[in-house]
Amino acid sequence: MTNKKKQILVTSALPYANGAIHLGHMLEYIQTDIWARFQRAQGHECYFAWADDAHGTPVMLSARAKGLTPEELIDLMNEEHKTDFRDFGISFDNYSSTHSQYNREQVEYIYQRLNQGGYIERRNIKQLYDEEEGMFLPDRFIRGTCPKCSAEDQYGDSCESCGSTYSPTDLLNPRSAVSGSKPVFRESEHYFVRLCEFEQPLKEWVSSGALQSEVANKLQEWFIDGLRDWDISRDAPYFGFRIPGTEDKYFYVWVDAPIGYISSFRELCERKGLNFDDWWGLDSKAEVYHFIGKDIVYFHTLFWPAMLMGAGLRTPTAVYAHGFLMVDGAKMSKSRGTFIKARTYLDHLNPDYLRYYFAAKLGPGTADIDLNLEDFVQRVNSDVVGKVVNIASRCAGFIQRKFDGKLSDILPAPKLYNSFIAARNDIAADFEGRNYQSAIRRIMSLADEANRYIDDEKPWQQIKQEDQQEHVQRVCTQGINLFRILITYLAPVLPFTADKAAAFLGRDINDWQVLDQPMLDVPLNAFQPLVTRIDPLKIQAMVDDSKESLKPAEEGAAPDDAMDIEDLADEITIDDFLKVDLRIARITAAEAIAEADKLLKLTLDIGGESRTVFAGIKSAYDPATLVGRYTVVVANLKARKMRFGTSEGMVLAAGPGGKDLFILEPDPGAKPGMRVT
Ligand code: MSP
Ligand code: ZN
Repeated sequence: MTNKKKQILVTSALPYANGAIHLGHMLEYIQTDIWARFQRAQGHECYFAWADDAHGTPVMLSARAKGLTPEELIDLMNEEHKTDFRDFGISFDNYSSTHSQYNREQVEYIYQRLNQGGYIERRNIKQLYDEEEGMFLPDRFIRGTCPKCSAEDQYGDSCESCGSTYSPTDLLNPRSAVSGSKPVFRESEHYFVRLCEFEQPLKEWVSSGALQSEVANKLQEWFIDGLRDWDISRDAPYFGFRIPGTEDKYFYVWVDAPIGYISSFRELCERKGLNFDDWWGLDSKAEVYHFIGKDIVYFHTLFWPAMLMGAGLRTPTAVYAHGFLMVDGAKMSKSRGTFIKARTYLDHLNPDYLRYYFAAKLGPGTADIDLNLEDFVQRVNSDVVGKVVNIASRCAGFIQRKFDGKLSDILPAPKLYNSFIAARNDIAADFEGRNYQSAIRRIMSLADEANRYIDDEKPWQQIKQEDQQEHVQRVCTQGINLFRILITYLAPVLPFTADKAAAFLGRDINDWQVLDQPMLDVPLNAFQPLVTRIDPLKIQAMVDDSKESLKPAEEGAAPDDAMDIEDLADEITIDDFLKVDLRIARITAAEAIAEADKLLKLTLDIGGESRTVFAGIKSAYDPATLVGRYTVVVANLKARKMRFGTSEGMVLAAGPGGKDLFILEPDPGAKPGMRVT
């Protein structure tokens, strides 16, 4: 393939800074990374830059719950996220945060341009307000009864029970998820972008081929419904950038988040001496691609290009949406242990395995992807280990032991070699079109051919014949060269394995064009096993580690994923300890909460006083077996409003979670209400 050297910028969607990276995120980051690595292997100048999405109400509240400032929280998370990405082999050129000086400048600049263009409008709107907390409530922080089906305890924007969507003002019996109080209506001034001004240019952009057909179709529907003004301001308290010229208005997080793509790239320009305008200016010749999940298409195909248009910047070349990750056919679940964090995966398994499996499953569309854990083991073991690496291990031994580690000077089957080279264009077209599953199919069928070739030649038999020595060296040289082609095609998918293969071959594996020349008459380095088979026990260990441990507070906490920084157990004084009122309690009633994965509702007798406590021990106990038993309860814990009622204490239990949870039980003789000291 001869093509002009292109300038390419790719991005992934910015993960929120209040939670750990999980395998759902990794689906996207691996998809993007494979594409970036592929482009570089074609000789293009390709950068991959993105950032943490640091702003918004959930980050603000998570920080508060952790006793951190938002800045402290986002700094910790930024380090954690970057380490996860590096360890997964994500080859980013820059990873920033939207809470940066560059981003603030870029946001203010774009806002100013929109304002000067007359695209910003102000008007008063009424919203639900939490008087106890002194804050307006985002939809996700309002809970109440569904106006359609009367299911209780639903979010302010949609019902998980009947699936209908509505406005939080339609919710019956609304409650603030922050304080539990009943919200009231309050009016305040908001800033809007008049999207309808961009309808024509947006339609042109959509028809330029920037979108997958299913996404473009969705957009047509939105155009037919008419583009509504976009509310870009939020009232204090809010963690974000203040709108210039206001005292207490902040940019909505979705304003500064995509601008983070630009700011992160700007940092890279500073570091590498790139010319920013060549990439983001109106007459940029560079290509800009955003990889995103299908849940955030609206933001990236309407709001984002409209902002760019209004600010006089270029629009993206394309936005590529992918589907959602399922595990074993269902949504990732904390109680089943299938909500797997990037770090938990890495504690047990080689990142190349997951990269391979995702590649084998990813197509160009927005279909969901299922990580079936059994299939995962089987597929990786049979393809990567059993087919590809096997070619090298079958041949390397002979070369090493019998031929001084040296390859022969001719290939016995040059046609076969050339057919592997001839597949390059189709494989490249698959990667380019994000049809990784097709690329993998082609590569694996070549691997089958290579193995068949070796099977037919039977070097292990021929080596016993004196007059066949040279031929065996050639056959193995052929095998090693076929392996080299395959591992080069697979390098964007399997970077760690490719690095090891490069050490063995004594050649870089980063350019598809150099494959035109086979490796002949050169020495190889010692062969180390490149990857080992997946041990299914490791999968079980990973799932066990992913099962939520006892964290009762989370069940009623903010809807976003809870933070995962380990709490540091600071030293405390005896006085601190004495503040905790631990009491013996007798369990007088216990029932399961059907809608909660983890919770049992316990009624406790603590010496003449009855308490209701929600305990996250459902996975370990049949409620009926608990009635009449004694345990220990934190009796002076501030009552906490949860989704299913108010919890008036906390039961003590030990263990990692799942079935392994054990409530503490006193020796016989202890009576309800006794203080534990
Ligand atoms: N912060 C926004 C994106 C701002 S981009 C200017 C956001 N963050 S997120 O952390 O919720 O998601 C980040 C990306 O990961 C999104 O593209 C989202 O679709 C993707 N995924 C998050 N969970 C996912 C799965 N379970 N499966 C596949 N992708 C998922 O949205
Ligand atoms: Zn409903």
